[in-house]
Amino acid sequence: MFVAPSILSADFGRLDEEIKAICNSGCDMVHVDVMDGHFVPNLTIGPVVVEAVAKATTKPLDIHLMVQNNSFFVDLFAPLKPKFLSFHIEEEKHPHRLIQKIRDYGICPAVTLNPHTPPESIEYLLGDIDMVLLMSVNPGFGGQKFIPSVLKKVRKLRQMIDINDAKVLIEVDGGVNGLNVRELDEAGVDVVVAGSYVFGSSDYKQAIDSLKV
Ligand code: DX5
Ligand code: ZN
Repeated sequence: MFVAPSILSADFGRLDEEIKAICNSGCDMVHVDVMDGHFVPNLTIGPVVVEAVAKATTKPLDIHLMVQNNSFFVDLFAPLKPKFLSFHIEEEKHPHRLIQKIRDYGICPAVTLNPHTPPESIEYLLGDIDMVLLMSVNPGFGGQKFIPSVLKKVRKLRQMIDINDAKVLIEVDGGVNGLNVRELDEAGVDVVVAGSYVFGSSDYKQAIDSLKV
């Protein structure tokens, strides 16, 4: 299991230190939540702060856009060269075009699904993307409770990926902890995002290790 701590739960007053601490504690990527106050009822960080994150990290960035007007935000964050850039399918009329735009920047495109969005909605995108991010909470805030029906969705998506022989990772984001990670692994998840579980722990290395099932 790959582990991507979400910096949403980090201490932003000591951001540089926090990023270095998770990188030195064995995380695989650094998950960055970009919220615009429109698509979700919360507002987070823009490229100025993410640039500081990019300077501090020794691990690839995984940028999760929770915004309206995806194309504008892709242009804003692409210069920071994240490994993955994901957008919400619920907010995109022309996903193929946006995926191509992300790919043209040399970034791996990923598509995110809200907890209620069926995996079939992206069946015809599976050949074009590198990762699917399944939300296991309603996007907007850290520290929410895991929605168990996402496990069924992971299994279905895993089948769809295998049938299509697609090279696509499955990432799950929201309410992930040391207790539910095993079930996620068994269902076919490749990457877990964890915010409050990692940053709320007194030992980041122990928390990250406990997710590496
Ligand atoms: C929620 C964000 C998550 C969030 C996860 O909208 O996308 O990345 O930080 O936080 P936890 O792990 O606390 O649920
Ligand atoms: Zn996220």
